[in-house]
Amino acid sequence: MALSIALLALAGCEGKSAATAATSTANPRQPALSLGAQVGQLAFFDKNLSGGRNMSCASCHDPQYAYGPPNSISVQLGSDTRQAGVRAVPSLRYRESTPAFDDDAPNPDGVTSNSPGGGFMADGRAATMAAQAALPLLNPLEMNNTSKDAVVKAVQSGAYAGLFKQAFGADVFDNTDKAFDALGTAIQALETEDLSFHPYSSKYDLYVFNKIGGTLTPAERRGEVLFHSTGVTNCSGCHYTGANFNGNSGLMTDFTYQALGAPRNDRSIPNNPDPIPANDDPKYFDMGLCGPYRTDHMPSTPQTANPYCGMFKVPVLRNVATRGAFFHNGVLHSLEQVVNFYNTRDTNPEYWYPADKDGTGTPQANPAWALQPTHVPGATVNKYNDLPPAQQGNIDEEVPLGTGEGGDKTLASGTQPRAPGSPPVMTPQQIADLVCFLGVLSDGYQPSAKPPTSGKCVN
Ligand code: HEC
Ligand code: HEC
Repeated sequence: MALSIALLALAGCEGKSAATAATSTANPRQPALSLGAQVGQLAFFDKNLSGGRNMSCASCHDPQYAYGPPNSISVQLGSDTRQAGVRAVPSLRYRESTPAFDDDAPNPDGVTSNSPGGGFMADGRAATMAAQAALPLLNPLEMNNTSKDAVVKAVQSGAYAGLFKQAFGADVFDNTDKAFDALGTAIQALETEDLSFHPYSSKYDLYVFNKIGGTLTPAERRGEVLFHSTGVTNCSGCHYTGANFNGNSGLMTDFTYQALGAPRNDRSIPNNPDPIPANDDPKYFDMGLCGPYRTDHMPSTPQTANPYCGMFKVPVLRNVATRGAFFHNGVLHSLEQVVNFYNTRDTNPEYWYPADKDGTGTPQANPAWALQPTHVPGATVNKYNDLPPAQQGNIDEEVPLGTGEGGDKTLASGTQPRAPGSPPVMTPQQIADLVCFLGVLSDGYQPSAKPPTSGKCVN
């Protein structure tokens, strides 16, 4: 099932290369791209840079989808068209101001104490966007090149070899490592210079910076207030909207790492259309900062508690409404699900995590957004099932996930999980309003001459 959807998706990307590249820079504010960025643009859409000559960066990071995936599946198939990846594909928009990873990074809010922050990938293991580019190119589950040499040969025999030499030196191809690194530099230049990677053209931008007008509807405005509320949602405690280190604001992340305990995306979820194949191994856990893909904070054994385990980077929320798979493992498939997860992870864990099948009682029908459509009252719920028990002490209990003071991570000691069966903190109306607010973060907003007076997200 997952396989056929993914294959269709791959096929659907055909023909989206050069034409899209051209339109993505049709922005009157776009300064001319440097030579390096021009190389980067050609490389970003170049399918010859994959082992099967069938996949470019844009196959997974499609400009028509905010440089995110063009489908809703959890994890994408790689160039070999058989093996799926291990994490959901993020959008590449607004990544250019990500600071380098630091175990002791300052928080942009200027108040919260230092903690791990920054870096590229959900575990920050790539220091720069230039270094990051090597990872998909050489990953057997992604672009599946066997060596740097294979990638460099593809560039050297391709249409932009001349431009590449112009940008990086006539002798650049003499040294494989140098040429491979230059390719990363070129792609980073594209991601930095091309305004289509950071267009600031959402309704939120019009509203906050009041450039051309464009105000929020009452529903969106209520959602915004909630997003910032420390007592109810505390969303902006992590999805920080203030100015970043480089002065850009409204990215909705403080670049820190948190452990939310996303449900395991495996076959235990009834009718799961696209479990992560790696999760078929019960001993495999993707634990973010503590590995297995990042290797410098690994626990000595899986049973040894380690404060980095389960931590994933707080993602940029811009364009989040254009996505169809959420969290690092793509286990959730709608924004309603995400907000409901925050709301009921601890009050109703049986909605999200599998229950012990030996329990007694009648299965109950649960709201349509839950991952576990039935549960057995009295049965033990296997909470936080995507982390080994030794690492579950790292799970975040900040508001809205737990009780206590919101918005101040230094008060974590005063917080505790919400008791099972206790009332969730958000009402259905508040959830709907938050989702409306997240919708205004999508780029490409065109104010309409006659705004709608009824419908979703209006009143
Ligand atoms: C097969 C799908 C696929 C292809 C092809 C692909 N990526 Fe990715 N990309 C991903 C996934 C999955 C992640 C998240 C990986 C992780 O967190 O470990 C990612 C993450 C990234 C990130 C980090 C974003 C962040 O928020 O930290 C950047 C930058 C990126 N990719 C750029 C590229 C470039 C450049 C190329 C082409 C050279 C490329 N990708 C090709 C799937 C893909
Ligand atoms: C304690 C910090 C924290 C708080 C508070 C928080 N988030 Fe998050 N959020 C995260 C982290 C970390 C992730 C990524 C989790 C993962 O990948 O497993 C995330 C992921 C998300 C995503 C999925 C994005 C994607 O592209 O997959 C959405 C949407 C989101 N959060 C919205 C919210 C909203 C709305 C609130 C308030 C109700 C909120 N968050 C509160 C830390 C937080």
